[in-house]
This record gives sequence, structure tokens and C-alpha cells, in this order.
Amino acid sequence: MIRKAVIPAAGLGTRFLPITKAQPKEMLPVVHKPVIQYVVEEIYSSGIKEILVITGKQKRAIEDHFDRYEINKENNYVDELEEILNNLDIFFIRQKEQKGLGDAVKYAEAFVEDDPFALLLGDNITIPNCTRILMSIFEEFRAPVIAIEEIPIEKARYHGIIKGENIRDNLYRIEDMFEKPEEPGSNLAIIGRYILTSEVFDYLNELKEGYGGEIQLTDALKNMVLDGKEVYAYLYQGSRFDIGNKQNWLKANIELGLEDDEVGKEMKEWLEEFMKL
Ligand code: G1P
Repeated sequence: MIRKAVIPAAGLGTRFLPITKAQPKEMLPVVHKPVIQYVVEEIYSSGIKEILVITGKQKRAIEDHFDRYEINKENNYVDELEEILNNLDIFFIRQKEQKGLGDAVKYAEAFVEDDPFALLLGDNITIPNCTRILMSIFEEFRAPVIAIEEIPIEKARYHGIIKGENIRDNLYRIEDMFEKPEEPGSNLAIIGRYILTSEVFDYLNELKEGYGGEIQLTDALKNMVLDGKEVYAYLYQGSRFDIGNKQNWLKANIELGLEDDEVGKEMKEWLEEFMKL
């Protein structure tokens, strides 16, 4: 049973400057909600009730967003969120310096204790729910499992990459991992959804700086694999939006906007007209 989830949301979002001068990139709107609300909703609909968000400087808006809103109750979107928040415990901790994803995850050690936990990057959206599928794979293998997707090989050097043995449809046993490799030997990219065991902290605590001079989660998992531990990768079949850059953020707004009950119809008509010009 996975009862805890961790959301690292400490990155500075420099690719979005000046938007991120005074607001976190996780608060960028995608149709009706900030990105991180999609992440919290994914956790909630996976049946997890305890969440730790790892934040940093300029991230106060995230905490405010998940606080109770008491000014105007006549809004369905607010009511839906309040309903979820009434059933969740959300904790916050700040990463003290920018030392990478692996360093941020280390701040979850006391919260996680010895339990397995879900880790969801705060700037990625996966629809339908990816965490729930990872949880069922974890139940089966009792070993860490991470979500991946196939990407064009020329883009592989911008992602964490795995190499593995395909053991059944959409499932790999990982043989090696690389964070943003210069010469990628695979196009299977890590997409920001993981189920991990507390053992990962032993590896994170030992780790030296890797890619970009930062502590990389991928390196900790790689060392686990090289030590002979089982780590699995699930080839996710749904839509994944990595809001890490402007193009993807705009694409997410268009794609999810077109599917939306409130604004979708008008957007579709407008887009069809617009594309004719
Ligand atoms: C992080 C991870 C990387 C993963 C990516 C997914 O990188 O380090 O392994 O592929 O998230 O979004 P970042 O995008 O924070 O540079």
C-alpha cells in the first residue's frame, strides 16, 4: 500500500523568465488550474492522503493555493478543490540551495520514514492517471518502478534515459540509466512519475554531483541497479505534458483546452478559423 506522495517543486523555472521572477513555474495555468493542482489531483485519485511538497525560494504561492479559500464560495472549480483538500494532509518543506532533483528528494527522508512512496514532479501532467498504474506494478513486483515514454532519439540528451530488458508489454527491467546523456543509447525517457522505496535515500546520501554539477535522482537509481537491485520501468500510454518549457506549456493549454467542457467548443471553432488564415 502506498500512503505517501512527494512532489519536488523547487526548481527556479529560469526557462520561463520573466514569468517566474515572482511566481513558481508550478503555478503556471493550464486551462482552469495551475500545473501542480493536476499533480495533487492525480495523487488524490490514487487514494493517497499524505503529500509532502518540496519548495524553495519564490514558491509561497503554492502553499497559498492549497489553503482554504474563504472569499467567494460560488465557484465550482474552487468547490471541487476544497473537497479534495478536506481529505488531504499537505506538508511543505524548503530546499535550502539549488542542488538538483536528487538533493530536493533528500528532504523527504523524514516524511517517508521506511515506507514506499510515490514521487511526482510538480511540473509534469499525466492524463490518465499514471501513478495508479505504477502503484499496481509496485504491488506486483515490490520493487521501485518509474514511468517512461518513447521520444525521438535526437531529443534524448535533454532527458533522463533508461536502458532495459523488455520483460512484457510496456514493462522493462532497468539495466542502466543516464541523466541527460551526450550520446544516448536509447530513446526511453523518464517522465517524472516514480514509485520508490526508502532505500533510495541511502543512495542519495552517498551521491556526488552529476550532470550540471547537481545531485541527480537518476544517478541514485542507476547505482541501485548497478548494485543488483530490481528497478522497473513502465512505458506509459497516456498523454504527458512536461511544462518545463514554453512550447510544451502552450501545447498543454491548447490540447487540454480543446477537450474542456467550458471552453473547448469555442476554442475549436476559433482554431479551425485561425488555421485557415
Ligand atoms: C528531471 C529528471 C529527468 C527527467 C525529467 C522529466 O529533469 O532529472 O531524469 O527525464 O525531469 O521531466 P528536469 O526536467 O528537471 O531537468
